Amino acid sequence: MSIRARTPRKPSSSAERLRVEKAGVGDAAHIHSLVNQFAQRGDMLPRTLGEVYENLRDFFVVRDGHRLLACVALHIVWEDLAEVKSLAVRKESQAQGLGAVLVRACVEEAQALGLKTLFALTYRPAFFEKLGFRQADVMSLPRKVWNECYRCPKFPSCNEIAMVLDLRGDPTP
Ligand SMILES: CC(C)(COP(=O)(O)OP(=O)(O)OC[C@H]1O[C@@H](n2cnc3c(N)ncnc32)[C@H](O)[C@@H]1OP(=O)(O)O)[C@@H](O)C(=O)NCCC(=O)NCCS
Repeated sequence: MSIRARTPRKPSSSAERLRVEKAGVGDAAHIHSLVNQFAQRGDMLPRTLGEVYENLRDFFVVRDGHRLLACVALHIVWEDLAEVKSLAVRKESQAQGLGAVLVRACVEEAQALGLKTLFALTYRPAFFEKLGFRQADVMSLPRKVWNECYRCPKFPSCNEIAMVLDLRGDPTP
């Protein structure tokens, strides 16, 4: 599947030809590097290279030639629930619509899979609000808490905000 990025707010001839695509094995080291650059600054949780390979089929990427510009993962948690994870846009490629188009790719795939709810745990709730997500109590996502949060070193004092999108409505504003 490939989805064209929308026209960026900052006109750039290169951004107009960028596409969202499924990740390949050649992207794994670049995804690991991009995510962990932001994780070191406390913007998101770190991922090991092993985690990236194990979950590689979850990932969408945007590349410019061989250069990775952005990534996101759609991770299924339960029969009705999936998570948007590891969303990262290279600093110099931000504010061009790439983050939004990656989340929309997750929404489309989650709908095609028959999932009912999509969520993200984030320090950027306003970004997700623009895409139709609403804030929720993480305890309203017990499958996430039981499966993953309990094993996280930050639990129970995690300050990420849970943002939820109901896929049964019209999710793409
Ligand atoms: C957060 C992030 C993914 C946004 O990606 P981006 O490509 O710069 O965002 P887009 O250009 O697609 O922005 C889409 C909309 O969200 C808004 N937006 C982007 N970042 C925002 C933020 N931090 N807070 C509020 N709104 C934001 C944009 O203004 C835009 O709104 P508009 O359509 O009304 O103009 C990117 O800044 C990033 O990778 N940050 C570092 C990693 C990180 O924080 N990841 C957290 C995700 S869980």
